[in-house]
Amino acid sequence: MKVQQMLTMLLRVMLMAPLMFIGAVILALTIDPVLSMWLIAPLPIIVGAVFLISKKAVPLFKSLQQKNDRLTLVLREGLTGLRTIRAFNRVDKEQVRFNKMNVDVSDTAMNANKLMVSLTPIMMFVLNFSLIFLIWFGAFRIEGGSLMVGELMAFIQYAMQMMFAVTIASVMIVAIPRAAVSANRILEVLDTVSEDQGTRETWHTDAGKGLLEFRQVSFRYPGAEKPVIQEVSFTAKPGETTAIVGGTGAGKTTLIQLIPRLFAGDSGSILLDGVDIRDIPHEHVRAQIGYVPQQSFLFKGTIAENIRHGYESATDEEVQHAASIAQATEFVSNMKDGFDSTLAQQGTNVSGGQRQRLAIARALVRKPGLYLFDDSFSALDFHTHTLLRQALQKEAGAATVIIATQQVESIKQADQIVVLSEGAVAGIGSHEELLKDCTVYQEMVAAKQAEEVTA
Ligand SMILES: Nc1ncnc2c1ncn2[C@@H]1O[C@H](COP(=O)(O)OP(=O)(O)O)[C@@H](O)[C@H]1O
Ligand SMILES: [Mg+2]
Repeated sequence: MKVQQMLTMLLRVMLMAPLMFIGAVILALTIDPVLSMWLIAPLPIIVGAVFLISKKAVPLFKSLQQKNDRLTLVLREGLTGLRTIRAFNRVDKEQVRFNKMNVDVSDTAMNANKLMVSLTPIMMFVLNFSLIFLIWFGAFRIEGGSLMVGELMAFIQYAMQMMFAVTIASVMIVAIPRAAVSANRILEVLDTVSEDQGTRETWHTDAGKGLLEFRQVSFRYPGAEKPVIQEVSFTAKPGETTAIVGGTGAGKTTLIQLIPRLFAGDSGSILLDGVDIRDIPHEHVRAQIGYVPQQSFLFKGTIAENIRHGYESATDEEVQHAASIAQATEFVSNMKDGFDSTLAQQGTNVSGGQRQRLAIARALVRKPGLYLFDDSFSALDFHTHTLLRQALQKEAGAATVIIATQQVESIKQADQIVVLSEGAVAGIGSHEELLKDCTVYQEMVAAKQAEEVTA
């Protein structure tokens, strides 16, 4: 692993300082063991000082790193939420919040660094004193004839080398706690393994397949108290439209995301054409799926490029065909460069409804065996929605279509409706069947009608 290599390199550089130090001491000992004592004597004092100071400074550096983290967070929120902040007149409040974080970070940095810089004068003081003694006692020994001037000069050189080593070490000591905090974070990401990658290469779908079956599937977000999906079972057949209805927070998005394995279920199993999706490599599962997420995310680039994210080698005709089913042709051709018009980062230069239609076209161009639409028509007007659904019906043909929505009236025609309430199935059936014997569904329809009456 790259990071580990970097860490070993750092370790080697760190070893350099003690080696220089020990080398100087050994050389000194070979010349005059007694005088060498004046080189070694300051060692315990220096080690003690380093130990005491870094014991105080390391926690400070750790918290500094965390505070830096929070400062970045506040800064990022301020930049991405700029319009929201302005619209709610929160500019001053946000400024205060940012200033507070900023002052907090700089205070901690000051304290930590003040501690660390106090190390250098202490070390210099001690080492220079040992140098004085060295010259003092060296002078007596030269006078007594047991030491030569050149040998004393060598001693002074060794002392210099030791000082240099100690300086390097103190720089390292400052860097280590910070590097350790950062390295741990990087390692956390690198060490996360994608769990149970299936290996069943024999599995493949032919056009017209895409039978999806949920068997007692439960799922809980990591760290959450309650499962958001509870023992859900249903079967979505090829050539049919299965609707998943439920209010906000019912678990529709979560349920949909379990299918391309964006999250892995805790218990139960999801089967695609009779094979557990855990036994199929992720890429194979995803290759069969045309997924339109609730939040239509587009990339910086041209419209054609964005649609081709669904299928790299789509021809121009295929791209245009997908766009026409998604009812995007009209607004795309009204743009200056048509399909070659550039989208801004995250597609912010087109409207929400236009973004949604491009995201739909991106899924359609794959010609998948299984379509997943997560609240994908919410930003479309009634007329566009009707046209799109009619075109989609024809295009999907023998594929399996799953539509998650909270708008009951839009999925009356679905072959099968799964009513989701707080993560559990409250009823399965056609519109008529559910109207007869599913209270949750009745309530949803009634609420919708009441809304229409008042409107
Ligand atoms: N990333 C997440 N981490 C933890 N809880 C989540 C996350 N996303 C959604 N939830 C919780 O799961 C529940 C279902 O959410 P979601 O599947 O988005 O519902 P829906 O799409 O039906 O509105 C919600 O109560 C929400 O609080
Ligand atoms: Mg949702």
